[in-house]
Amino acid sequence: MHDSSGRITVQNLSKTFGQIPAVQNLSFTVEPGSVTGFLGPNGAGKTTTLRMLLGLVQPTAGGTTINGRPFNQLTNPGRVVGAVLEAQSFHPKRTARNHLRVYTAAMGLPDRRADEVLGLVGLAEAAHRAAGGFSMGMKQRLALATALLGDPQVLVLDEPTNGLDPEGIAWLRTFLRSFASGGRTVLISSHLLAEVEQTIDQVVIISRGQTMYYGQLDDLRKSQQTRIIVQPADAGALVTALQEGGITGIEPTPDGKVAVTGSSVQQIGDIAAKASIALYGVQEEKADLEQLFFRLTSGQYVGQLPGVPGQQPATPGQQPGMPPQAPGMPPQAMPPQGMPPQGMPPQAPGTPPQGYPPQQQPPAGPPQPYQQGPPPPGYQQGPPPPGYDQQQPGHGQHGGWGGQA
Ligand SMILES: Nc1ncnc2c1ncn2[C@@H]1O[C@H](COP(=O)(O)OP(=O)(O)OP(=O)(O)O)[C@@H](O)[C@H]1O
Ligand SMILES: [Mg+2]
Repeated sequence: MHDSSGRITVQNLSKTFGQIPAVQNLSFTVEPGSVTGFLGPNGAGKTTTLRMLLGLVQPTAGGTTINGRPFNQLTNPGRVVGAVLEAQSFHPKRTARNHLRVYTAAMGLPDRRADEVLGLVGLAEAAHRAAGGFSMGMKQRLALATALLGDPQVLVLDEPTNGLDPEGIAWLRTFLRSFASGGRTVLISSHLLAEVEQTIDQVVIISRGQTMYYGQLDDLRKSQQTRIIVQPADAGALVTALQEGGITGIEPTPDGKVAVTGSSVQQIGDIAAKASIALYGVQEEKADLEQLFFRLTSGQYVGQLPGVPGQQPATPGQQPGMPPQAPGMPPQAMPPQGMPPQGMPPQAPGTPPQGYPPQQQPPAGPPQPYQQGPPPPGYQQGPPPPGYDQQQPGHGQHGGWGGQA
């Protein structure tokens, strides 16, 4: 059903390019008022999914909606969705301001909107410069400015942190959080969890085109158990004492230490003291989201280390410089692999799409290279939706290309 919620749905979405299953039976919902991270390693299917969401690629099966409709059936797409995908192209000799004015003209917006969005993304001082001379981060900002022209309800950004300096990443984080807190919807993809971890509330992790985790980032954090690494004088004796003390999550490590889950430092210390086992070190190992991300998305394209033929980099879950896990040992903390999306039945690969009306599928058409397209003629800038805190140029600028948060 058509609505104005700003909700994005992806339902049993699949795309196969020849023999390549780029996206396999993906389902998730992006709620308004939140920032959702769409995460996966290179080649996982992020861009393909976002292209299908924007009606640029025809799904093999399943479909996507924004406001209850496929993108191609939105009445005023430029007003509803602002998007930045990979490989944005700008006329190299056109100034940033003139680039944006091409779109404001097509969208029926006043020229001043170009300067407003340049101010929002921190490019006010570069408005008169040719986009061809922009750095990668400046191009990212100009692409974001283009996406913001129509004051959209939904923002879809493919790898928006690529090329941004640390200040730019911090600014983008504040910007997106404020954008979402006003009731709008933000979906951003990244292959780096660390770069978006502080920005996102919800996370969809994919690997090889399949959902590996879908849910709140906080829940993913909580699913990680803290391990306590103990360095005893006698590992064998400590393992026996712990077992006799009723502790179950015990893993001797290859370097003579003992890793314990589901227990406290005090419990372990008390048992060791009672058994007269000296402890030389006790360390709490906090949940490491990045490590979990590696485990969930393991090695689609695994490189080799330079100068060591055939040697692979650290396997997922193994930190460089850390010993590998002993054979036969359970993983340090079980990833929620295969966890079904919230509120949805577990997905079986190859399952035909269910509950998705065929008429909601985008019309057939050949895949096209993405270009930020202007909305249809007759577009009129309307007032921002209630709750949106419209930013004004001239506020919050803080040096460099710092935009307004
Ligand atoms: N037009 C196409 N023709 C053939 N294969 C394609 C096409 N587009 C994407 N693919 C393949 O689909 C898979 C997913 O690609 P996609 O670009 O969606 O990955 P991604 O998650 O965006 O990766 P990255 O992090 O590198 O941007 C890859 O194996 C890719 O080679
Ligand atoms: Mg991509």
